[in-house]
Amino acid sequence: MQKVRKAVVPAAGFGMRFLPASRALPKEMFPLVDKPLVQYAVEEAVASGIEEIIFVTRAGKKAIEEYFGTNGDLASAWKKKGQRREVTRSRLLARMAEFRFVRQKVPLGLGHAVGCARQLVGDEPFVVLLPDDVIDSRVPCTRQLLEVYGVHGGSIVATQKVQGVEIERGGALQVETVSNTRWRRRLFRVTDLVEKPRRDEAPSRYGVIGRYVLEPEIFSCIDILAPGRGGELQLTDALRLLAKKRAVYAFAFEGQHSDGGNKLGFLCATVGYGIKHREVGPAFRRYLKSLKF
Ligand code: G1P
Repeated sequence: MQKVRKAVVPAAGFGMRFLPASRALPKEMFPLVDKPLVQYAVEEAVASGIEEIIFVTRAGKKAIEEYFGTNGDLASAWKKKGQRREVTRSRLLARMAEFRFVRQKVPLGLGHAVGCARQLVGDEPFVVLLPDDVIDSRVPCTRQLLEVYGVHGGSIVATQKVQGVEIERGGALQVETVSNTRWRRRLFRVTDLVEKPRRDEAPSRYGVIGRYVLEPEIFSCIDILAPGRGGELQLTDALRLLAKKRAVYAFAFEGQHSDGGNKLGFLCATVGYGIKHREVGPAFRRYLKSLKF
């Protein structure tokens, strides 16, 4: 199996579910305890062996570029203030991976956004991480998918069973079991996908969570996409086309998932990481226990 070296991180959305906070600040830069939301996805990718990260952005998202670059002015200001730790931290961040940026010039949807990275990805398998999906797990979710990829190949989407009306919020999968695998009951063959189905039309309770391993053939499927849900070119629909000709799997990963793209999910992720945080965790736990509801 070809080594997977590149990750695409779509970050061109308008953060509609987070207005008004996202009006002038990209939601990817909102701090989850002490790091921007997008950094969790980047760290997960790097911890999964990814060497190059391709951000798909748009105008108004410069802050992401500045954050992952080495910021000379800030470095000298920190040095003057004796903040050497901060200088080292920002150098380490900039060296974590090769960072590249490409613009999505028109907001045509997630499928189109991934398509914008085509030149930079080239003809090799790659992963996609949607920074909204915050996943706290012992083994990074992307690494779990790549382990499966190493054995089975194909394209793989991350999945978890979702409750009730939650299935209407994302992609939903029709799956069948895979018998000759060491991941029995966790690895499935995807036979169909639907983007944001009505609850009573969802093919199963397996929802698509924003982590994917994709074969480069996905780009030819993106090329022929017709507008789907919300009039957008959907990655789910491209995978649907791909599943008709090549193996697409779904992997029920282990980990705690929160949808950091909406207010409640972001709060849940903040609490989850907050109570475990080395510096503020103990005091934050005491504070939460003291609250009366
Ligand atoms: C996107 C995908 C959807 C997936 C979701 C995961 O939707 O289109 O299939 O389930 O991410 O977060 P969005 O959240 O961008 O509407």
